Amino acid sequence: MAGRIPRPFIDDVLSRTDIVELIHSRVPLKRTGNNYSACCPFHNEKTPSFSVSQPKQFYYCFGCSASGNAISFLMEFDHMDFVEALEHLAKQQGLEIPREMEQQRAQRPQQDLFPLMDEACKFYQHQLKHHPDAIKARDYLQRRGLTGEVAKAFRLGYAPPGWENLAPALGDSAQLQKQLLECGLTITKNQNRSYDRFRDRIVFPIRDHRGRVIGFGGRVLGDDTPKYLNSPETPIFHKGSELYGLYEWLQTKNRPEYALIVEGYMDVIALAQFGFPQAVATLGTATSKRHIERLFRYTDQVIFCFDGDNAGQQAAWRALEMALPLAQDNHQIKFLLLPEKHDPDSYLREQGEAAWQQAIINAIPLSDFFFKRISQELPAGSLDEKARYAHRALPLLEQLPKGLLHKMMLERLADHLRLTLEQLREMVKKSPEQTSATNAPKETGKTKMPLINYLLAHPELAQSVDDLGSLRALQEPQITLLLDLLEILQREPNLTTGTLLERYRNKPELEILTQALSRQSVLPPAGIAAEFNETMERYYNLARKQEIETLLGRASSGELDDSQRKHLQDLINQQKISR
Ligand code: UTP
Ligand code: MN
Repeated sequence: MAGRIPRPFIDDVLSRTDIVELIHSRVPLKRTGNNYSACCPFHNEKTPSFSVSQPKQFYYCFGCSASGNAISFLMEFDHMDFVEALEHLAKQQGLEIPREMEQQRAQRPQQDLFPLMDEACKFYQHQLKHHPDAIKARDYLQRRGLTGEVAKAFRLGYAPPGWENLAPALGDSAQLQKQLLECGLTITKNQNRSYDRFRDRIVFPIRDHRGRVIGFGGRVLGDDTPKYLNSPETPIFHKGSELYGLYEWLQTKNRPEYALIVEGYMDVIALAQFGFPQAVATLGTATSKRHIERLFRYTDQVIFCFDGDNAGQQAAWRALEMALPLAQDNHQIKFLLLPEKHDPDSYLREQGEAAWQQAIINAIPLSDFFFKRISQELPAGSLDEKARYAHRALPLLEQLPKGLLHKMMLERLADHLRLTLEQLREMVKKSPEQTSATNAPKETGKTKMPLINYLLAHPELAQSVDDLGSLRALQEPQITLLLDLLEILQREPNLTTGTLLERYRNKPELEILTQALSRQSVLPPAGIAAEFNETMERYYNLARKQEIETLLGRASSGELDDSQRKHLQDLINQQKISR
């Protein structure tokens, strides 16, 4: 998406924006030494670990590692997408939006659907108050214990009976009819007529993370089927990633310390009404990886809540299998299985808030749930049984990200089976490389190239490097990234760190760079230039050594021509001198 917006425009927007001002208008900052700091807006904390650097135009939280430039901040804090954040900043600076970007906007026809959905939502809300048949809907809500206040907060409405209510109420043009179809509010009957999808139902507007209505769920008032009808997939509504209640969750003053995934609309609303704003619901679909990834952007604890019946148990296990690859050491995943025949709504109303609070506290960590379930399923007495157990458990555990949890769960498995880790692996006959790799700590994201650290601390150092060519042959981790940085910084010496990082948005290198930036306080403040040059020298020598070795190897099999032989001799001479 970012590819089509001209890079110079992005640079321009960032260079005119002051990240300190931008953040300060949302999160009051205090000056601390060279930086500004505050309690982090992205996680709960009492002492400030969120730091903003004016010269670097970059923020970083030492607590939760949230980091980025002005665009990232708007994306995270105001939940904008990339283009929206850029537009917002451009407007603030009075910059003309480039034509490419306007076009890109125009190519997103879904933009027009948001206002229409909002109109429809208002229509349903109005009907709930004023339609002659709405009394039974209001009665129904009351019987279910909803207050008017919570109904209003969630913008609940009523779709009246009858086949054609929406279009006439909203203007009835051909264009409107087309859009109503497109956003799933009507269904075609034949070529020129269509009818309302939601009729005589309570409607629950589904909002995206920014509060825009993107779909609806509709519940019957009685026992008809289907009990719930949901908007279909549309250009603006994607069930695989949207969560009911996420907007409200994000609106809470102090971010809840966990997100609770429940199954139903009514569960989210009941919990909110009783002062538990932590719940979000999937929309009549199973929880997807994307749902969870989304939540982990805002919190480091996700609790799955399921009914205690068989179906609930099974759904919980499916959720676990899906969540395994996301269980990084900094992520907590728990499971809350309610007593049979209860969902959160009924449990809370019947047992009260204290019982609910206790249920949350008692939620089972992923590791315990994992072993409990497998142990219920499989005995582990005889050798054969142990082998079966291991066969079931190991492949699942291998899906965990490499880290402490992974390691401890493997050990727990071995312990449970009274085997050593080696025996365990023997049993499932994995190749040695495969298993030894699983013990290695996760390495991505770390800077293995000290020069990158120096460069990020003092980008002007790039100007002192005049021979990029000989580094190119170097076989060292992250050498490509280093060269890349050097080239960019030499070409554009005035880039701030924030703008530099923009080049790496959505690229794997971003994590490495951010990590490097976060460790800058460890670097000695003085003498960086000297250290940089010394290290540079070391790498030049290493590059030469590696090249000599390669050339010698080729020389011994007679592959070198005259000029290459001469080059080899030169390199060897240089090496002698530098010693
Ligand atoms: P449940 O059947 O558990 O309903 O479905 P519920 O949430 O407890 O609803 P109430 O309390 O009877 O009003 C859980 C969720 O599954 C989806 C809905 O999102 C619902 O909230 N669902 C259920 C459907 O999409 N369609 C259906 O027909 C039923
Ligand atoms: Mn229910």
